[in-house]
Amino acid sequence: MPSITFSSSTMPNEVTLEYVPDGSTTVLDLARLESLPIYWHCGLGTCGTCAARVTVLSGVERGMGNKERNVLIRFDKPAEVRPGDANWRLLCGYLLTGETLRVEW
Ligand code: FES
Repeated sequence: MPSITFSSSTMPNEVTLEYVPDGSTTVLDLARLESLPIYWHCGLGTCGTCAARVTVLSGVERGMGNKERNVLIRFDKPAEVRPGDANWRLLCGYLLTGETLRVEW
């Protein structure tokens, strides 16, 4: 089963959650369901507060759209996807489709 490992200096330990892709749940949704201390505000991919580094451990590395790229640039985050790296992404727009991820903030 796919999973996401969440890691942050604001948590005492990493948390790994398994999920079933349902076509609508995002990384941010999963974190919020477990009450993980992750910053977010708009939930619409415009404010940039949910930006975090995402590493794809298994599954397809997905590209970045212009809207996400523009928001990351506005917040001085690298806005390119390098396979295998911890790339900055907006968690509210990162739909879970079966990848296993590591998310750090
Ligand atoms: S919560 Fe605003 S961009 Fe994700």
